[in-house]
Amino acid sequence: MGVSESMKTIYLIGFMGCGKSTVGQHLSKAIGGKFVDSDQYIEEKHGQVIADIFKAFGEDTFRTYESEALKELGTYDVVSTGGGIVERRENLHSMNKNGTIVYLETPFDEIVERLKSDVTRPLWNSNEVDKMKALYNRRIKLYEQFADVVINTDGKTIEVIVSEIVGLKKNKN
Ligand code: S3P
Repeated sequence: MGVSESMKTIYLIGFMGCGKSTVGQHLSKAIGGKFVDSDQYIEEKHGQVIADIFKAFGEDTFRTYESEALKELGTYDVVSTGGGIVERRENLHSMNKNGTIVYLETPFDEIVERLKSDVTRPLWNSNEVDKMKALYNRRIKLYEQFADVVINTDGKTIEVIVSEIVGLKKNKN
């Protein structure tokens, strides 16, 4: 059985490295539903990794791909989105009309720790902490605007985070 009709698709949003994909995988198993990672979907659909899409066509084209992908993923139970999903307002409408938006809130210092050796994300650069912090501060306002529910992940295990989201689903029934 998938997610109940009342909650439809669960969209996980949040900054790079907040754990959207990992939580999404565990959550979909917990509820017996279908999971998709939007970045992975985009990479498969366009036959290129995200970094190469940015390099070849720029961020704006990637954002267009991302908005298109979001519209194509409405039949999944759990969708983990890219950290920049909040950069386009139309994405709020796509998600709102089809399900519930859950923001995984993670402190900046934790993100820095998790992404310290990451080289796959074109918008992340561990050597430019001030710039990253500015992006984080701008983004968190958008995540809060988009979110139906905020889950603080600080110091919590994946299991606890998942059970909090499953609990929301039950409360909605
Ligand atoms: C981005 C986040 C990435 C990916 C792309 C852009 C962003 O996804 O979509 O590199 O703008 O924050 P993750 O949040 O899964 O790292």
